[in-house]
Amino acid sequence: MTRTIHLSPPDVGPLEESYLIAALRSGWVAPVGPDLAAFEREVAARVGTAGAVAVSSGTAALHLALLGVGAGAGDVVVVPTLTFIATANAVRYTGARPVFVDCDPRTGNLDVALTAELLHDLVRRGERVRAVVPVDMFGSCVDYTALLPICAELGVPVVEDAAEALGARHGGQPAGSFGRVGALSFNGNKIITTSGGGMLVSDDQVLLDRARHLATQAREPVPHYEHRETGYNYRLSNLLAALGRAQLLRLDGMIGRRRDLRDRYAKLFAAVPGVRVLGEEDDESNCWLTSIVVNPGQAGWHATDLAAHLAGHDIETRPVWKPMHLQPVFGAAEGRFTGAAEQLFRDGLTLPSGSAMDTGQVAQVLTVIGAFLAERTGASPA
Ligand SMILES: Cc1ncc(COP(=O)(O)O)c(C=O)c1O
Repeated sequence: MTRTIHLSPPDVGPLEESYLIAALRSGWVAPVGPDLAAFEREVAARVGTAGAVAVSSGTAALHLALLGVGAGAGDVVVVPTLTFIATANAVRYTGARPVFVDCDPRTGNLDVALTAELLHDLVRRGERVRAVVPVDMFGSCVDYTALLPICAELGVPVVEDAAEALGARHGGQPAGSFGRVGALSFNGNKIITTSGGGMLVSDDQVLLDRARHLATQAREPVPHYEHRETGYNYRLSNLLAALGRAQLLRLDGMIGRRRDLRDRYAKLFAAVPGVRVLGEEDDESNCWLTSIVVNPGQAGWHATDLAAHLAGHDIETRPVWKPMHLQPVFGAAEGRFTGAAEQLFRDGLTLPSGSAMDTGQVAQVLTVIGAFLAERTGASPA
């Protein structure tokens, strides 16, 4: 009997079990406790920021980060159209309006030159641009060397959506540390997981203190329950933080396994006309997900053909994000579009990328893809 091979399942084992049991036995079964404080310190150290606030999801982290830079009704926030919906939803939670920008077709990350044009245009029109939210797509950092000076010149804060990018770097600097504040996700499919969870990382202690306050129902530090503003119940549980601490110890090993897998895919597709690995040239990526981009004119097949073939062998794949400006929930979305994100949605395919895949599963995926390619190209299977 074959087991389904998933895209990016959690990679947990005895270390996580021992940390969880220890936390349970410590009695700190609450959204407060020593593992929570330690997890925040350890993630901040890894990302290289002065502090961190652990919350219940990456979406919550983005929401509080945007509130932290003052986003609210009447503001606009620039968001890449090629992302998971949480990035744009978090903008809406604050009352601000997301304005979308297309991506660089090579990397899938936001197109920096187009972002500059859009920002200048918005500022010229008198819009209050409260933030830019670059997304480090699939674990590859945005070109911050180019983006940050543009945002600095216009005085627009950067809120880095590093939900997928813990452990990645750009120019040696860790993902999460580029903006005024960064947001991480520890969802079950991410590079490290707490089953569900997220974190704000920043050097701005005032912003972090305010996020922590809002995440705990905006409760005032007095013995009775006193609230002067509307807060949220967004804190992470101490138990889940313990799970995260164990995962963090294994982060580099997990990145290594994902990179090995990406290298195997790159080798397999190297000689296949019309196919490339998205962001392959980025050797600082954490390789969270590996996607290929298929030019059907050159390859003679579509990404969906390979997806169907793999599904027939119980191997999960996923299209690259459907752009936000094509999502019904955003209606007639405002933004700058080149067609690059639409093309990646049409021609991209994300392959199983998890660090928990064993040798047999990796071999199985590569063999099934090899057989597909042999059938399509008439070559002998790899
Ligand atoms: C780019 C991006 N932003 C935000 C999120 C939201 O994180 P979470 O699922 O932890 O709320 C995710 C992942 O789910 C994501 O991929």
